[in-house]
Amino acid sequence: MDKKYITTPIYYVNDVPHIGHAYTTIIADSLARFYRLKGYETFFLTGTDEHGQKIEQAAISRGKNPKEYADTVSAKFRSLWDEFEISYDYFIRTTDENHKKGAQKAFETMLQKGDIYKGEYEGHYCVSCETFFTDMQLINGEVCPDCGRTTTLVKEESYFFRLSAYQDKLLKWYQNVDDCVIPKAKKNEVISFVKQGLRDLSITRTSFDWGIKLPSSLGDSKHVLYVWLDALVNYISALGYGTDEKNFSYWPASFHLVGKDILRFHSVYWPAFLMSLNLPLPKHIAAHGWWTRNGEKMSKSKGNVVNPREVAEAYGLENFRYFLLREVPFGQDGDFSQKALIDRINSDLGNELGNLLNRIIGMSSKYADFKLDSIDVLKYYKKEIDTADMILEEAQNYMEELCTNKYLEELWKVLTIANQSIALYEPWSRIKEGKKDEALALVALSANLLAKTTVLLSPIMPQTANKIANALGFQIDTNAYNKLIIEKKLLDKSILTPTEPLFPKVEKELMESVIPTKDQNKKEFINIDKFFACEIKIGTVIKAEAVEKSDKLLKLSVDLGEAKPRQIISGIKAYYEPAALIGTQVCVLANLKPAKIMGMESEGMILTAEDKNGLSLIRPENAKIKGAFIK
Ligand code: MSP
Repeated sequence: MDKKYITTPIYYVNDVPHIGHAYTTIIADSLARFYRLKGYETFFLTGTDEHGQKIEQAAISRGKNPKEYADTVSAKFRSLWDEFEISYDYFIRTTDENHKKGAQKAFETMLQKGDIYKGEYEGHYCVSCETFFTDMQLINGEVCPDCGRTTTLVKEESYFFRLSAYQDKLLKWYQNVDDCVIPKAKKNEVISFVKQGLRDLSITRTSFDWGIKLPSSLGDSKHVLYVWLDALVNYISALGYGTDEKNFSYWPASFHLVGKDILRFHSVYWPAFLMSLNLPLPKHIAAHGWWTRNGEKMSKSKGNVVNPREVAEAYGLENFRYFLLREVPFGQDGDFSQKALIDRINSDLGNELGNLLNRIIGMSSKYADFKLDSIDVLKYYKKEIDTADMILEEAQNYMEELCTNKYLEELWKVLTIANQSIALYEPWSRIKEGKKDEALALVALSANLLAKTTVLLSPIMPQTANKIANALGFQIDTNAYNKLIIEKKLLDKSILTPTEPLFPKVEKELMESVIPTKDQNKKEFINIDKFFACEIKIGTVIKAEAVEKSDKLLKLSVDLGEAKPRQIISGIKAYYEPAALIGTQVCVLANLKPAKIMGMESEGMILTAEDKNGLSLIRPENAKIKGAFIK
């Protein structure tokens, strides 16, 4: 049997996990569980993307060195996925030694193939998107078309990958393999992007350090790999590429799950890199849409980011999983609303699924002493069973195309057959009429329909499915899948067990109190103690020099009137010539915990103000005594 390899993007460690990350991870987890249930050997990969300028800057702004910082945030991702019982087989970090070796081997192989050459890159770079842009792509000549932030003009020596040489091969691939990129609409966008012409891609950087060094055989140690080359290679380094290849039989990936914002990297650059490496291409690259909040993009500054842990704690992890996969068609954007989530819990889960189980247990206790026997089901209700078997057989195609909402809709059609059969055939009337065998067959019909549905619900709601299966007296595993779904058989005789209500009703009134949206117009005040806890002092700059290899940092020596001047590493290089700073007075946050920045101790922070015109130092209007407090 063919193996399955399923991946999520590896998450940047400049941000803590939010609903967008949880969404991709939960879809991938459900898909991995789906294939395991069907009996495939499955490898599910997730992890964190830890190199690059964005991460370096995030670390510096928090006064940490990048590795320390990456360790902390990577652990947060991992522990959330563990809490969420995400069934990953391997959690990769791009700072892992194995991964570094894999990335270096990929670079070397592409170089030997003749696909890499050395040149000079001159153009615009968006640090937030870690993307190079041409003048034509920019808005107003400098603004990033993807995130709206100002780009930086970069001019540096760089190695290039001959992406242009792969344009026709890529177009052929899109043409020959219909579902290589899904959904279709997204694939068409990719095709028209490639048809516009591909330029060679700069794949190394020299202006900062925080990345994987080129293979030492090149003797070119000032270059680090471009973070997207580094990141994409994770999909093969995780299987041992360049080190121990014992898991490499999982390649090619069955599904790379990605958000629509990073589809281009996965459907253009990645297959081109793979062609250069002579490796088979992924089977499907599947792009999902974005979650918004009340129609707006989520962002920290708006305070409207949905924290997945909070939602899971308030509403139940599995209800949240169901909601994410049921609410939005794959590929489209979706708006996160607690009202919609509550409606799904109360209606789909509570009324249709939970109540069905209660009714089955109730009827079986009343008429059959909790005994379940499928013996007469086909005699009286063959049509219902046949219809359900057919629906469930076909529903699986939706899951394989990642149309999770349609998959769940189909499953619910079977629950509807069960609920409607009870209403239509009224077992209580059958009993009154003395047709006990028909009544018992009806109970068994409902139990069988619920059992079959539950098997296929298990990848999405694993714990809930187990509870239902326990109540119905069977176990969910590949054998149960084969028997109830593939062979279309019925449950064996068993004893039903009452269970606690699975989906207690959620009162709508609770809604906004659970996950409040921050009121943008409401100011949050601090009291004066917080301000006085910051020691902000006047200091005089007595030495200033550029930090080599950094386009941001200056190393300053600032006299605060203390026994010895402070060494402060400050990100103002792009705005000030070191010599022009000597003798100037600056404001220093003096009781900030010292930190190592690019291996150098920094003993305070210089205050600056930044707007769209750039950054300036905040300086006293008249000279002040060194060490004067700011109040
Ligand atoms: N590090 C890169 C991926 C490298 S993969 C070789 C990256 N990381 S990310 O942390 O910024 O984003 C990871 C995923 O989260 C992307 O697929 C992105 O689409 C997804 N989401 C981020 N915000 C999102 C929403 N609001 N909604 C849905 N998904 C979104 O990109």
